[in-house]
Amino acid sequence: MPVERPRTVRFLFEGREITATEGQSLGGALLGSGVTVLTRSSKYRRPRGLYCAHGHCPNCLLHVDGAANVRACMVEVAEGMRAGRQGSASRNVDPFRSLNQVGRLFPVGFQYRLFKRQNLAWRAWEAQLRRLAADTDVPASFDIPAGERTAADLLVVGAGPAGLAAAAAAAQRGLRVVLVGRRRGLGGAAAAVLAAGTRPAGLASVASAVAEAANVTVIAPATVVAGFGDKYVVDGVDRAIEVTAGASILATGAYERAVPFPGNDRPGVMLTSALRRLVLADGILTSASVVLVTDNDSAYAMADELSHSGVRIRAIVDTRSGSSLQVPPAPPGAEVLLGARIIGVRGRSRVTGLAVATAGSTRIFQADVIGMSGGWQPADELRYSATSTGTTVVIGERAMRIDASAWRSAPLPVLQGVGAAVGTLNLAGALAEGRLAGTWAGVRGTGPAETAAMADAIRELPSDPGENAHGR
Ligand code: FES
Repeated sequence: MPVERPRTVRFLFEGREITATEGQSLGGALLGSGVTVLTRSSKYRRPRGLYCAHGHCPNCLLHVDGAANVRACMVEVAEGMRAGRQGSASRNVDPFRSLNQVGRLFPVGFQYRLFKRQNLAWRAWEAQLRRLAADTDVPASFDIPAGERTAADLLVVGAGPAGLAAAAAAAQRGLRVVLVGRRRGLGGAAAAVLAAGTRPAGLASVASAVAEAANVTVIAPATVVAGFGDKYVVDGVDRAIEVTAGASILATGAYERAVPFPGNDRPGVMLTSALRRLVLADGILTSASVVLVTDNDSAYAMADELSHSGVRIRAIVDTRSGSSLQVPPAPPGAEVLLGARIIGVRGRSRVTGLAVATAGSTRIFQADVIGMSGGWQPADELRYSATSTGTTVVIGERAMRIDASAWRSAPLPVLQGVGAAVGTLNLAGALAEGRLAGTWAGVRGTGPAETAAMADAIRELPSDPGENAHGR
């Protein structure tokens, strides 16, 4: 049988032709071709590169095929695509870049409103501030997207493990499900794992169940931006969709947090989860030399995964200390520095190394990438901003066990939170919670059948969920 080779795609970046692999993100393809700076900070014009690789920051906003402010990490390359930097990053000469050299005259907390005391000076400065802040070329006119309406029995927000499990369980019970995901394709942040072909048990099966179910409508890439009672507003990039659903499940995942240290905004310093996505899903940085900085155990699991993909983990700088501290094993060849911190980053438009303070001395490491892992934060904004007239149920593992009887009689519309969005940071737990929430949506009000189905689903919750973020 002939070996299937990945297809190549050619696109233009500021007039330069770049060859990428089909399915790569635009940001990943650019970084793989040596483009490290995508944007500049609005105040000091400091260079910015890929940081989260998951659509949560302003670091990768580009012009793509005539549209402004497109997140390069969230779109796939396409044949003939035209992309370019915008604002200050696109200009060879930008006098405001010198502000970075005199930045210490404007320390954190510097109050521009002090200028307001001087009328004339303020008016001159205000005009500059406006230009600095709105540093992009927004098209003079743009089309208002077409509006659509759709109805379903269940809306699932998030196409990661918990969302997929919920959609699959509800669809199996005959519900009409609308599943909204931020990326094209299924898997959410765990799509990198699916793409790498490692396919942890359970994840691949729910992904195929959803893909094959005739009663699941997948809207992706799209973002649910608001919820009012049983109505949700979905931004579908080129269309706006109103989804009406009596029940909804929020499986919106979690953000990895940064670690504070001087120079942590330099291109090449990124979240460890971003590095993981770029390596596993985009196939770049696979032989990079990396130092991770962390204050939690999840970085060790990701280090192990990265190391298996060829990444050279030079060191793990763990800011924690204490005689009782026990950390997971690090990949072979990686030094673990406990109670250490990064005190400087080398390189201007890309990282070349870093300085680490440890046990009274300073160590210098060469590195192409610094991965930060400051723990995880639920991406639960929608849960708090949606104005539900019914009941909100959190099916976090702890809450689940406490509230098992209370939520069964909850009035509609019901909004359930599952997976990393409620703090469950492991694949088995997220799948089980999603399955439970989807099952409940499907059997609610069926009396004895409901009780039996729920008892089964509850039994599947892991007894010891653990704390790792593996599979995310
Ligand atoms: S949004 Fe693309 S790197 Fe953060």
